[in-house]
Amino acid sequence: MLNTQKYFLVVSVRDGNPQIGANSKLLNEDRIAHDWYRFVLSFPPQLVRHYSKRFGLSSGAIVLDPFCGTGTTLVECKKLGFESIGIERNPIAWFASRVKLDWQVNPDDLIRHATRVAKNAAQQLRKQGFAADSSSSAGSRLSASTLKTLRPAAASLLLADSISPVPLHKTLVLLQNLDRARDPRLDGHEILALAKTLVSDVGNLRFGPEVGIGRRRRDADVVGCWLKRIRTIAGDLQQLRQLANVRSRVYLSDARRVSGTIAEHSVDAVITSPPYPNEKDYTRATRLESVVLGFIRSKDELRALKQELVRSNTRNVYKQDDDDQLIPENSEIRAIANEIEQRRIQLGKTSGFERLYARVTRLYFGGMARHLHDLRAVLRPGARLAYVVGDQSSYLGVMIRTGRLLADLARSVGYTVEGIELFRKRFATASRELLREEVVLLRWH
Ligand SMILES: C[S@@+](CC[C@H](N)C(=O)[O-])C[C@H]1O[C@@H](n2cnc3c(N)ncnc32)[C@H](O)[C@@H]1O
Repeated sequence: MLNTQKYFLVVSVRDGNPQIGANSKLLNEDRIAHDWYRFVLSFPPQLVRHYSKRFGLSSGAIVLDPFCGTGTTLVECKKLGFESIGIERNPIAWFASRVKLDWQVNPDDLIRHATRVAKNAAQQLRKQGFAADSSSSAGSRLSASTLKTLRPAAASLLLADSISPVPLHKTLVLLQNLDRARDPRLDGHEILALAKTLVSDVGNLRFGPEVGIGRRRRDADVVGCWLKRIRTIAGDLQQLRQLANVRSRVYLSDARRVSGTIAEHSVDAVITSPPYPNEKDYTRATRLESVVLGFIRSKDELRALKQELVRSNTRNVYKQDDDDQLIPENSEIRAIANEIEQRRIQLGKTSGFERLYARVTRLYFGGMARHLHDLRAVLRPGARLAYVVGDQSSYLGVMIRTGRLLADLARSVGYTVEGIELFRKRFATASRELLREEVVLLRWH
């Protein structure tokens, strides 16, 4: 795969507009709520601040993020006092966005409840011979065969070695204790803290930007790390209280069918980053926590979820897919797809995935065309839109100018293209190229 790109450069927005400060890293002052759980390469909150200002949004405005992921746009809008709506089809990302927007929870109740659960879980682990701080399995009386494990249907979905047996056992013990003491007001925040703990403190994953296996953690202080994350959330909730009533909603739904979910002519602005045609599989990047926490339990559930995502990688292409029918016969997109196919044949690349490169490129833009077409019904006249997308050369080095092609598609279904601005550049180590990541600015009349 060619997409071993690294984000490394911060570039100013074209035409003398102010810099967004486009690093993927969260600024310290932005950590509150955003950092409860987030995709590694999500766009930064300052981008949302920048465009909400540029769009002249004022109180009463409704902002939509139809590919909301872990909720950067929505959380930032809530902090700014704007009502927001999110759509996301990956259940763990949808759940994360929902929880990150729930600022009604009483922080003292959260700490009290979580401390009790942690105490019970630690006690159970101690009885099994794990050390008091649960950071060492030395002396455990459990043999490998008596450690708790996932059901086979779920375990088979995990990336091999993404979590070691002892940390998994401890996580399942904590989950069991959470389940026993379940409080519906608090369990969203408690489970989200565990999702973050799994990815950051317990599992063996490495993100770079594709997910892979890094250092193996044979053991981890699962309970202690989780409680620490709970305390951070509680501290944030304390500071967010005054904004708790700003309205926000997140739907577990397909952004290619927005109009069935959101009221007609209700949205003032869209600030979003859809997938790019870059072979990135978001369900893989979130697989560990999705499976361990029960958001995806079987191959069938995984397939059902993938079928409702925009086709941005060859692992979610299906026989019956027909989004490519929305791409006009003589369009540049078809020409690019043909070039990819010609290059594949020339290079003698014959694997199943390589054969799909041309098709997934057409399906990607077809899916985005479907989305842009359907979206029109929910926009207010004069609505402003910002789509963050990146150029790609993941398919045998053929350059896909995603921003420009998306702008052409938008124009063909009636949007006005107000500009394409440089957001940041990424270095693709395989092709040794700088790839542009851009913001496509649209207006609905
Ligand atoms: C680039 S990420 C968005 C990241 C986001 N800005 C954040 O703050 O985390 C794109 C998201 O689009 C979602 N997605 C892809 N196809 C979708 C569809 N058809 N409907 C809804 N969400 C979709 C993916 O699951 C992924 O979370």
